[in-house]
Amino acid sequence: MRSKLIIISLFLLTAAFVFNSFIDDNPYFKITKDDVVLTVPKGFPKPTYTFKNNTITPERFVLGRKLFYDPILSKDSSTSCASCHQRIAAFAHIDHALSHGINGLIGKRNVMPLQNLIWKDAYMWDGGVNNLEVQPINPITNAVEMNETLANVVNKLRHNKAYAAEFNEAYNDTVINSERILKTLAQFTGLMISSNSKYDKYVEGTIELTETELNGLKIFKTKCANCHKGTLFTDNSFRNNGIKRDSALNDNGRGTITGNAADNNKFQVPSLRNVEMTYPYMHDGRFRNLQQVLNHYSNPTNFDKNYDLSLNKIDVLSEQEKAEVIAFLKTLTDKVFLYDRRFADPNMHF
Ligand code: HEC
Ligand code: HEC
Repeated sequence: MRSKLIIISLFLLTAAFVFNSFIDDNPYFKITKDDVVLTVPKGFPKPTYTFKNNTITPERFVLGRKLFYDPILSKDSSTSCASCHQRIAAFAHIDHALSHGINGLIGKRNVMPLQNLIWKDAYMWDGGVNNLEVQPINPITNAVEMNETLANVVNKLRHNKAYAAEFNEAYNDTVINSERILKTLAQFTGLMISSNSKYDKYVEGTIELTETELNGLKIFKTKCANCHKGTLFTDNSFRNNGIKRDSALNDNGRGTITGNAADNNKFQVPSLRNVEMTYPYMHDGRFRNLQQVLNHYSNPTNFDKNYDLSLNKIDVLSEQEKAEVIAFLKTLTDKVFLYDRRFADPNMHF
């Protein structure tokens, strides 16, 4: 009986070992040099964040990925970046109007998708952060997000054997500091590039759009592209798109940053890439679906009084026009990006 038990445990141990090394060597998670080459997609402008002084290597990218998916960055190890930023939603949070952080605390804004970040010069709905490398300090230290200090994150990682090895792989020494943490995170998030949607293939000339989608594109170009501009679908400006202030959240938006009352109720024009997957919508997640968004833009009588005058171009849309615009917006879904294995959770077992 006893020897049988020993044999069974030995078998289980070996199986666990083999399974583990299978995960380590799983090609799905392996990052090669080719995986981390930054190529600016055709038709995209020059990036604003250039990885200057932050040379990308596979090992550093892998370290950034590990950190992104690790709740160790939060005070009670409950919340990782990925708790709020989900891959299948272009790293927004599907179905959550406001962000959910540590201890179940609810933030006051909708989680933003993470995509094409290296073309931005201002991050967050109010543009309060202007550098991709320093951006993570915000969620790490935010009391309703991860509620941790950078110094304590460094301290926890220094006491973690796995991280000592990973930093050594990435930098050829075991120094763990906040600069390296922030830089590797920027490598991981900075390479999240979406440029392979049906619309991109249409622009390349390799795919046709349906008549409905083309009609939607035409309406979009005349009525929406003033703000949701160009290949990034944003001009990166801050505007009032007519939605009225939520009196419970009382969010001044851009005005919080500039202190200028004229900027109150202005928010950054979001990119509309992958918008099919990033619901709910707006800085406070007030609209559950694209139909509600189109209903809003098509109802000028209900606009906030300081709305941006370029909204006048939209006027009232028929139900058919709304459906066409929505059909067009769905051509911006980029499955290559949404299923890109490089950004998958390395702890995933399958
Ligand atoms: C509790 C949920 C939550 C966690 C955890 C979280 N974020 Fe966010 N993230 C948000 C919200 C909400 C916003 C929009 C914030 C705002 O406008 O004030 C945001 C915005 C961002 C942006 C700006 C995107 C843009 O286009 O401007 C980046 C980049 C980002 N987060 C990266 C991270 C990283 C890296 C981590 C982990 C260190 C992280 N986030 C952790 C909720 C979260
Ligand atoms: C005046 C500039 C402007 C125009 C014109 C405009 N938008 Fe917007 N759009 C914005 C701003 C600013 C936001 C974010 C507002 C907020 O969250 O408070 C936004 C948000 C959105 C969102 C939500 C995206 C998300 O991630 O939450 C969608 C969808 C959208 N717009 C689609 C459209 C469509 C379709 C049109 C044309 C019918 C259009 N917009 C016209 C400025 C504009």
